Amino acid sequence: MSYSSDYSDAVADPEGFWRSVSKAVDWLTPPETVRQERDDGLADWFPDGWVNTSHLALDRHVDAGRGEQVALIYDSPVTGVIEHYTYRGLLDEVAQFAGLLSALGVQQGDRVIIYLPMVPEAAIAMLACARIGAIHSVVFGGFAAKELASRIDDATPNVLLTASCGIEFDQVIPYLPLVDAACDAAAHKVRHRVILQRDRLQADLRDGDLDWASAVSRTEPVGYVPLPSGHPLYILYTSGTTGKPKGVVRDHGGHAAALIQSMQRTYGAVAGDVFWAASDVGWVVGHSYIVYAPLLFGCTTVLFEGKPVRTPDAGTFWRVIETHGVNIFFTAPTAFRAIRKEDPEGLLLSKYDLSTLKRVFVAGERTDPATYHWLSQRLEKPVIDHWWQTETGWPVTGVPQGNAESLPIKVGSAGVVLPGFEVLVVDEALKPCPPFETGAVVLRLPLPPGCLPTVWRDHQRLVSAYLEDYPGFYHTGDGGYFDDEGYLFIMGRTDDVINVAGHRLSTGEMEEIVSGHNSVAECAVVGILDPDKGQVPLGLLVLKDGDGRSASEITRELVLMVRQDIGAFANFKLVIVVGRLPKTRSGKILRKTIRQIADGLSPEVPPTIDDPAILEEVKDALCNAGIGEVSRQSDG
Ligand code: COA
Ligand code: AMP
Repeated sequence: MSYSSDYSDAVADPEGFWRSVSKAVDWLTPPETVRQERDDGLADWFPDGWVNTSHLALDRHVDAGRGEQVALIYDSPVTGVIEHYTYRGLLDEVAQFAGLLSALGVQQGDRVIIYLPMVPEAAIAMLACARIGAIHSVVFGGFAAKELASRIDDATPNVLLTASCGIEFDQVIPYLPLVDAACDAAAHKVRHRVILQRDRLQADLRDGDLDWASAVSRTEPVGYVPLPSGHPLYILYTSGTTGKPKGVVRDHGGHAAALIQSMQRTYGAVAGDVFWAASDVGWVVGHSYIVYAPLLFGCTTVLFEGKPVRTPDAGTFWRVIETHGVNIFFTAPTAFRAIRKEDPEGLLLSKYDLSTLKRVFVAGERTDPATYHWLSQRLEKPVIDHWWQTETGWPVTGVPQGNAESLPIKVGSAGVVLPGFEVLVVDEALKPCPPFETGAVVLRLPLPPGCLPTVWRDHQRLVSAYLEDYPGFYHTGDGGYFDDEGYLFIMGRTDDVINVAGHRLSTGEMEEIVSGHNSVAECAVVGILDPDKGQVPLGLLVLKDGDGRSASEITRELVLMVRQDIGAFANFKLVIVVGRLPKTRSGKILRKTIRQIADGLSPEVPPTIDDPAILEEVKDALCNAGIGEVSRQSDG
């Protein structure tokens, strides 16, 4: 089967295509209906099928004789631990933990918040929730208490699962103070908290808290429950344009079908391969390609608790690949930039035997050509950029590896449209742009299985955020263009979302925090280019008259506020005080123009600008701070 026939089959007969894909799922009751269209333009997939993701990821492999194959390898350079879990062993752990959740009264449809570092218990807890039909919501361990509290209030969980600490490089980060603050701040009160005590730090538990190990040891394992295909598997909160994150919902059946086919078509995996996504379970990459897809497909997944550098050095990734015989590797480009900075000649890389490695995938942000060339020349393996987002759950474009003949890789492009999606680049009037012309990247409705069916408890938010701007299409929020051979080039977000070291953040949310400071009259936060992290936030402030406090003092407080409200990974450190902000005559702040000045590009000045002189003032202020002179990072 060639890519082009695969793609055209999916466009011509989506139901036939997905019916055939769905055969790879071991349904508990196979669906008769493949697709049921909805009034909002989306579709419910396999609506009368019954399934359970935990069964698909574990039991069915054990039943099929894969019980002794390693399912999960935990490699933790920060603790020095390496552990192997076979499919049978992982199933036992998951069934036992599901027993604990049941004993705590968690029922089908109840939510469970998982705020854990990169430890196997995170994957075990996710699969245990799936087993009993509970809905997990994993919160990235870098999020501060306020973010955790807002997720507790939105998801209203019965149970919260956490650990005594995370470990970042050599720093131990106690979790309980954060979790306590979040639980105190949230209006919703969780009934039970289960705490994983780690060797590096034993936390003081509150009255009623359960110790993970002893609670699990007292329970009995439970089986999986059959669930309707559309039953929610998880809620994953993601940043949008407003301060309130959106709870992206994922279902069981469509998600399983989409991920299984992506392992074969997009990644070119075969069952038994060792698949490593170096990300975090708190992000969609971690959900889809650390936990679910590799296990659904019968691969061995690697769960890595470390960083590309300084754990202990820039050779860690190569060491993991050699030690575990990794076949397919996936991470964010920022990780390779960090490695290249510390080991520019790739001397550490050449120390390891990487012969098992077949290909590398990158996503999460644009891969700059310099990083691409550095990596592909040293590895001498295909390096494949592919593009997707939390909402889609699996790749929209890429260079598919599962066909007999591979398409060429084009540097700077995120590849061609993958079977199942229809992608258009359009102008504001919804007219398709000709090749090489940049426009909004939109996906034709209905979206395929695996994509978000709703936003948790706020379906209208899905409609207004994604479906209203371009009727009949889902608005991705990314801008880009196609070349004349159907390769998509993603040029970045057209909204207030930025990508900092592969982490998705909302500048709107940062603006809300900054404008809450007593001395700030007005502010704008934009994402500007950074050679290491891809983008970092920059805050421009206008201070209130007669406040009398120094700009440096206010800056220090603002940096701390964003760190305390969102988390250190937001990297909010650049703050510049200006006299006025550039605006249109109707009072809209010209954020795009500010960003272009800061990136050293010639700014597009809208004809509706109120006072062009302000742009010069901003340029001078940025220039004085050493921002704006460096143009786009090297594409050479
Ligand atoms: N828990 C607690 N704190 C965290 C954290 C976590 N899970 N992740 C990051 N932080 C903190 C860091 O400790 C650091 O704190 P500091 O300011 O006190 O030093 C801060 O957030 C900034 O972190 P980061 O921007 O990640 O920089 P870094 O120097 O710590 O690490 C990289 C740089 C490139 C190694 C790291 O960003 C990385 O691995 N990125 C890949 C991201 C990714 O996997 N994205 C998913 C898409 S595939
Ligand atoms: P997230 O939802 O955290 O996965 O972030 C999704 C966003 O990251 C997308 O909307 C893009 O802006 C960006 N992104 C993801 N993959 C790529 C890629 N391969 N190239 C450019 N940007 C990407």
